[in-house]
Formats: sequence, C-alpha cells, structure tokens
Amino acid sequence: MKILILGATGGLGSDCRKVLGQEHEVICPGKEEVDVVSWDVVIEAFDTISPDVVLNCVGLTDLDTCETDPFALRKINVEGPRNLAQSSARFECKIVHVSCAHVFDGRKAMPQPYFEDDAPNPLSAYGKSKLESETAVRGNSPNYIIIRSNWLYGIHGDNFVKSVVRHAVRGVSAPMQLPDDQFGAPTWNHRLALQIRELLNKDGRGSYHATSYGYCSLYELAQYVLGKLRLKAAIEACSLSALSNGHLLPVNCVLENRLSKKQGVNVMVNWEKDLDTFLEQFGDQLIKEAE
Ligand SMILES: NC(=O)c1ccc[n+]([C@@H]2O[C@H](COP(=O)([O-])OP(=O)(O)OC[C@H]3O[C@@H](n4cnc5c(N)ncnc54)[C@H](OP(=O)(O)O)[C@@H]3O)[C@@H](O)[C@H]2O)c1
Repeated sequence: MKILILGATGGLGSDCRKVLGQEHEVICPGKEEVDVVSWDVVIEAFDTISPDVVLNCVGLTDLDTCETDPFALRKINVEGPRNLAQSSARFECKIVHVSCAHVFDGRKAMPQPYFEDDAPNPLSAYGKSKLESETAVRGNSPNYIIIRSNWLYGIHGDNFVKSVVRHAVRGVSAPMQLPDDQFGAPTWNHRLALQIRELLNKDGRGSYHATSYGYCSLYELAQYVLGKLRLKAAIEACSLSALSNGHLLPVNCVLENRLSKKQGVNVMVNWEKDLDTFLEQFGDQLIKEAE
C-alpha cells in the first residue's frame, strides 16, 4: 500500500512512519509541504501522490490552546480532517483518522468502559472538535477508519511521561499536582501504530477504540514511571476538580476495544507491559533528554 502520513513529525505520526514503513510505502510530507488546512494543497497532494491510504496524525492537542484559539482549533482539528476525507473520497483512497476519548463526558461510573457506540458528549473545545472531525470523516468518506485512543506517550513529541521525568530530573521543588480520581489507559504510540497497521492489513472499516488494557490515574502513572526509573520527584495527589481545567476533562477515560476484539484484529496489551518495555528501551534517553 502507498500510505500518505500527515503529522508524521508528531508523537504518534513518528511511530506510525516507522511501523508502517516496515511493510508499506510511506510518504510523509511536513506541514510546510502539505498543510491540511488548505484544500488546494491537500487536493494537489492527492493528485500527485495517488495514495491508497491517508493517515491523519495531525492535531491541535493542547487543551488550553484549544480553549483560547478557536480559530486554529477549527482549522486544524475540523477543516483539516474534512479536506482529507473529501479528497480521499474523490481519489478512492481509505482515510484513517485518529480521535480521542474526550468525545465522551466521562460520567459513566468506573470501572465501566466506553464502547464505540456509546453516545458522545464532549466537555471541552478539544473534545467537541474531535467529535466534529469524526462527523466530517464519516460524512465525507465512504471508506474510513476512525480510531479513538487516549493518554498517548512515546519517545517522539512531548507527553505526560516525559513531563514526569523532567520534573524529577530537574529537581523541581514545587510538587506536580496530579489527579488520583481520573482514570485512563496509558497507550504507547508504537503499540497504536501496530494496531493501525493491523487494521489496514485486515481492511478494517468503521470506528474503533484502541487503548491499552487496564487503567490507572495520572497520579498512579507518575508513581509507576518514577518507580521503574528509580527517580524521585515532588508529586502530590489532588482531585480532578482542583485543577483549573478539571471541569473540561472526562473523569472516566477508559475505552473498551470492543470492535477490534470482535473482529479478531486487536493487538493492544496491558498498559504496564508496554510501559515496562518502553522504559527499558528508552528510560536512559528520557533522562538524558530531561537534563
Ligand atoms: N496525545 C494524546 O494523548 C492523544 C490521545 C488521543 C488522540 N490523539 C490524537 O492523535 C493525533 C496525534 O496526536 P499527537 O499527540 O501525536 O500530536 P502531536 O505530537 O502534537 O503532533 C501533531 C502533528 O500535527 C502536525 N500539524 C499541526 N498542524 C498541521 C497542519 N496544519 N498541517 C499539517 N500538519 C500539521 C504537527 O507538525 P509540526 O510538528 O510541524 O507542528 C505534528 O506533526 C491527534 O489527532 C490527536 O488529537 C492524541
């Protein structure tokens, strides 16, 4: 397959580039070459490249920026996916689009997970934009995969695991306030890239959840990372409502990968297993980068 990956310099996109590139031809233009916001640029890219698949790893993900810059949010998170979906339809190409657990309000009682067909009800501007992006993809492309994931980490880009390591290595004395009453499954970008490859190889279609098994709070996740890397850091448990943007965050972010399990195409594993492998492989690099 010829796969056009957009957002390939980001956290998830970088791992997708590596994993998909092992079996397929991948083309990874940067933002300067293909800005998804521009219809003319997108359609020209499809015309020139003629991809079998376009994988959209582009996104504005910083929650605070999403609240304060609605213009950029709409352009990047909604109009971009719409441009890609419409172009995919015109060029008979499959689109894979990455969405998020923040399309749900997270009010389901723990430990019940969210299924693919649960009713969305986003709380934040980011969550609303992701839900709109899903509608744009479904409404414009007959051959799509939408993948909802959450709490992504990896060696590329910035993420929560890296900020915990930074906090420890730099010896920041002010404690990091981390909620112990919000739950999700930390998911390794590399693992999600494997899941995307599996879905493409098996011609998956529709909306899939794809996160690691199990769940924890961000406070527990930080403790786990510090313990594995034998680091000490000032961290303090707090409740989600104590955070300034806490009201915008779903409490229950746990997703069940029901569709991929049903179809026998689920490759996700327990979150501790992947995090152990990640920290074994990249722990030293994380510490060095943080210094
Ligand atoms: N992070 C998470 O925990 C999480 C959870 C669930 C779902 N997701 C979704 O997964 C996707 C990838 O997230 P991520 O964490 O990998 O994001 P990321 O690290 O911030 O990467 C975003 C990528 O988008 C590119 N980009 C931004 N604006 C663009 C534009 N106008 N045209 C083309 N490219 C543009 C960036 O390029 P530059 O580097 O050049 O700016 C970068 O390569 C997003 O859709 C996000 O909503 C993320």
